[in-house]
Amino acid sequence: MTETLTIRRPDDWHLHLRDGEMLKLVAPYTARQFKRAIVMPNLVPPVTTIAAAAAYRERIRAAVGPDSDFEPLMTAYLTDTIDPDEVAKGFEDGVFTACKLYPAGATTNSDSGVTDIRKIDAVLARMAEIGMPLLVHGEVVSADIDIFDREKVFLERILGPTLDRFPDLKVVLEHITTADSVEFVKAGGSKIAATITAHHLRIDRNDMLVGGIRPHMYCLPVAKRRQHKEALREIVTTGDPKFFLGTDSAPHERHAKESACGCAGIFSAPVALESYAETFEELDCLEKLEGFASEHGPRFYGLPLNEDTVTLERSGLDVPAAIDSGRADLTPFHAGERLSWRLRS
Ligand code: NCD
Ligand code: ZN
Repeated sequence: MTETLTIRRPDDWHLHLRDGEMLKLVAPYTARQFKRAIVMPNLVPPVTTIAAAAAYRERIRAAVGPDSDFEPLMTAYLTDTIDPDEVAKGFEDGVFTACKLYPAGATTNSDSGVTDIRKIDAVLARMAEIGMPLLVHGEVVSADIDIFDREKVFLERILGPTLDRFPDLKVVLEHITTADSVEFVKAGGSKIAATITAHHLRIDRNDMLVGGIRPHMYCLPVAKRRQHKEALREIVTTGDPKFFLGTDSAPHERHAKESACGCAGIFSAPVALESYAETFEELDCLEKLEGFASEHGPRFYGLPLNEDTVTLERSGLDVPAAIDSGRADLTPFHAGERLSWRLRS
């Protein structure tokens, strides 16, 4: 049995770091595991300008400290009225790596999101022209669409037609949760890819709802039925380069999760690589972890691969039930469980 696993240092292609005290608490967990991360812009107010992104990047760098070489990759939050020139200039200046599309009302802090994708045609045209990736929260928000169908309907109604109108646009379908999305991305051309979270590879809706409602398993897009989880697990075993790591680690204080109206988001940053390793080992494809975690993402984004490595060892990791620093009380993914792998510090 393999006792250690050394892979090229990975990156996280979808991450929520928040701000203020929460940022100071959570950023070091990611910086310990990953060299780079695509940082989501859904702050209050959202990150819609170059100045806001540059200032946020400085706060992130301060939060991880001067000894860390962690590199935050910033995103612009698309609104109905965002200026295409600002977006393009931010990309050309190296402040924005990509733009994030939140359909208005789809998830946490998405109220300022896009109300109709056609309203941002000018931005999308510009992004396609300059090769700037569009990162998509792929869920429709119509009240008449069941929450478990929202991703599939988004593909049919929004993403498919948008890709037809902008065939050159580079798109990452974020945190996919369905067999439909796996098929959609596989069938698409070389300009579309997808991220897969550690939790969607492990949980289905039963884990959230059977035997009691488990708020720490609740995130968006919500975990679906088992066959969809199986489709995600299956695609990572193939080593298909269109699929790569994005944790969507999304911390909320425990009281905001354990509430009559609990927030969506799973805080996986402290155990992300260990969780992926656990899954890949279960699937008997540990040799595919490096491509998924460290190579497919940068190749899709057109960024250099990291040159250094990280080592996981099979010494076991007891995940704490709570991470309560005084700054915030958080419940991590895998809280209270024992995982087989541990990232060597
Ligand atoms: C994210 C958050 O809390 O910011 N929540 C989540 O459940 N994933 C937003 C998002 O990515 O949808
Ligand atoms: Zn997210």
